[in-house]
Amino acid sequence: MTPATPPQRDRAAAPASPGSPGRAPAASPAATGGADDAAPAPAGLWQRSVGAASNPDLKLAMAASGTVLSVFTAGHMAGNMQVYLGRERFNGYARLLRSAGAPVLPPNTLLWAARTGLLASAGVHVAAGTELTVRAWRAEGRTPGDVARQSARNAARLLRSATARLPRLYLSPGPRGRGYAEMYREAPFNGFFLPGFDSAHDPRRRPRGRRRSVHRIIARSMRSTGAVLGLFVTYHVLDLTTGTRPAAARSFEHGDAYGNLVGSLSRPVTAAFYAASMAALAGHMVHGLRTAALDTGLTGTAERVRRVDVAAKAVGAVVTLGNLSIPVAVQIKVVR
Ligand code: HEM
Repeated sequence: MTPATPPQRDRAAAPASPGSPGRAPAASPAATGGADDAAPAPAGLWQRSVGAASNPDLKLAMAASGTVLSVFTAGHMAGNMQVYLGRERFNGYARLLRSAGAPVLPPNTLLWAARTGLLASAGVHVAAGTELTVRAWRAEGRTPGDVARQSARNAARLLRSATARLPRLYLSPGPRGRGYAEMYREAPFNGFFLPGFDSAHDPRRRPRGRRRSVHRIIARSMRSTGAVLGLFVTYHVLDLTTGTRPAAARSFEHGDAYGNLVGSLSRPVTAAFYAASMAALAGHMVHGLRTAALDTGLTGTAERVRRVDVAAKAVGAVVTLGNLSIPVAVQIKVVR
């Protein structure tokens, strides 16, 4: 989660405590500087709901919804382990999820209740995360445009450092048959290729030679890993639940959860995508659980911080390795 300070409109209304997060005050003519007879602009749904929540409330919403999603993910992984018990057991488990509560409840009732709860938790998690992110950017004086430009520069930097390690690329002919060295000579000089360009144009960049710790990289990647997980879950539901092509394998058949899983993960690209998404899951879950414990005040002492840290790493590792084992097992044909 992003440490965020209140939005500028909060700070303008409460100059005495610029750093303290608080509930957004109701707009009054005096506060907005408008005349008594000027009708305030109607606030949109977002401003009246998510935008009106204080930073602590948003963080609690993220902690609660993230915990619900983590509990589901851990339970889902445990259920997935039945794939090692064979087709019958796995399909029986999938059928059980659909018929749970019968004969008292109609089929799929509990399944739909769980789906609704999950969808609501995911919605709250993304909405609160988005609002906190935008507030943090605003507090740093950055607009979404600035952030997009910064990301493009970072991507260009990554690309440059990657291509710098591929000398053959420079020797290969560039567009229209010209070599890259020639293109470099002809490029309008703006200093872009000089080593110091990045730090001069990006004051947020860390000084040269200072490495980021793994912990820090994970903490700073929460938005990216969250986006990867959003993409993964969307693909995953199309692949294994709805059986929508091209996400699903050609062999997809409703009711054969085992066959669908094996059919899907037998495709090397899909298996690689699942495996990479599990790496994103590991970082997101470990840092998310740790932050949720911090934000809800579970970590009052150094000893508790340490225990929470160990517990978050253990849960993240078990869930990730358990899930990761499945695409690997299908690829090496232990599960087929
Ligand atoms: C390699 C790892 C995973 C495997 C093998 C796997 C397997 C499956 C299977 C077989 C289904 C279909 C169940 C059925 O329709 O009967 C399913 C559904 C689903 N999975 Fe996963 N899963 C994995 C990881 C994840 C992760 C990490 C998440 C969430 C972060 C997730 C979220 C879901 C959701 C939301 C559904 C749809 C549930 C529904 O509405 O029926 N899965 N998964």
